[in-house]
Amino acid sequence: MKVLVIGGGGREHAIVWKLSQSKRVDDIFAIPGNGGISEIARCIEIDGNDIDGITSFAKRERIGLVVVGPEAPLSLGIVDRLDRMDIPTFGPIQRGALIETSKIFSKNLMEKYNIPTAPFKTFSDYNSAREYINDLKPPYVIKADGLCGGKGAYVISDGGEALSVLKGLMVDGIYGDAGMRVVVEDFLKGIEASYISFTDGKTTLPMLPSQDHKTLLDGDRGPNTGGMGAYTPVPFIGPDMEKKIDREIMDRTVHALEGEGIHYRGVLYAGLMFKDKKEPFVLEFNARMGDPETQPILFKMESDLYEIIMACIEGRLKEVGSIRWKEGVSVCVVLASKGYPERPEKGKVIYGLNNLKNIKDVMVFHAGTKRVGDRFVTSGGRVLGVTAIGDSYRDAINKAYEAVSSIEFEGMQYRKDIGSKAFEYL
Ligand code: AMP
Ligand code: GLY
Repeated sequence: MKVLVIGGGGREHAIVWKLSQSKRVDDIFAIPGNGGISEIARCIEIDGNDIDGITSFAKRERIGLVVVGPEAPLSLGIVDRLDRMDIPTFGPIQRGALIETSKIFSKNLMEKYNIPTAPFKTFSDYNSAREYINDLKPPYVIKADGLCGGKGAYVISDGGEALSVLKGLMVDGIYGDAGMRVVVEDFLKGIEASYISFTDGKTTLPMLPSQDHKTLLDGDRGPNTGGMGAYTPVPFIGPDMEKKIDREIMDRTVHALEGEGIHYRGVLYAGLMFKDKKEPFVLEFNARMGDPETQPILFKMESDLYEIIMACIEGRLKEVGSIRWKEGVSVCVVLASKGYPERPEKGKVIYGLNNLKNIKDVMVFHAGTKRVGDRFVTSGGRVLGVTAIGDSYRDAINKAYEAVSSIEFEGMQYRKDIGSKAFEYL
């Protein structure tokens, strides 16, 4: 079987790595891939958002399965196109991706189908939004409707700030159309976690719960990023809580989508806020796997990812039953370039990767890297995801940071506290 993976981040390296272990997978291509991916797959120089380019490549190469990593091609309707060509594709259709690409769509869906989320109002007119927030007591949250590269949510702590946020989005159009409509919602206090499930449109099958570290600096300080590290499992999310989330959020959402005439296949990712560690509320949905959450999750997966993906596509996920996982804890520490997230430096030689090859329990997933001769150089903001499995949180964290200590590139920055929140929950 020939498989094509779309994307070139750490998430896609983990997906390609895991698929490469399947006996059913013979050949893997990646568009565009990255340095690490190029060691196990053929990287093709086509833009990841070039839907025409990707579909003609898939046809020409007789690809048997396409796996879409990021949201952008989903939002452009890549799955709809490949479906029409009868090429099995893993990911939701364009209308399904609305759950991530339009906050207004996803909030309205949650309200209509009684899926727990913060109370909210939506606005498409600046003056009405301004009047509404005049009477509102902070804290509350303003969110742009569309995709803003992870920067569209503002937690407001004073009214003046809210006005300038609204003006920026709805008058100045800093994110273009994406910010012209907004959601204003209640602030929820609690602990965040990521809950990511496979779905065939009828049933859902959860991966392990995980926790991302969204800000750049230790102690959850500094600007928001794509994610600076993640670990799994999360101590306060036990089997009973998982069942509750499956029933009241994940299954209900897939049925809600079906109710709206959207047959949703692929991955459903819920960003959850847990009130008192007990009551989960949906902050947002994504139509794809998380990055970096995918790296520690897939590193712990024992089951064959290819088989699960095909079961989703063929509508027989129920037959899979459950996913087998390795014992223990998995932790991923992201190494980022100097200047990330605003203006990452690129082109720096990465040292020390060879020492980490074939170390049991450690895997370095590449994100912004490219191969130049026999070396790897940085080519983006998030560069590597150093991932380790251990018997305990302490053991996994120690193994990951020990591996980090042998890697070096100019300007390398990373958080020193990935995973340590788990100790607060134990
Ligand atoms: P979102 O893009 O909706 O996931 O929001 C980005 C981040 O903003 C989340 O990861 C939370 O940290 C924070 N956030 C979003 N909505 C809320 C809310 N209703 N209450 C508190 N924090 C929130
Ligand atoms: N790690 C957050 C995300 O993938 O959206």
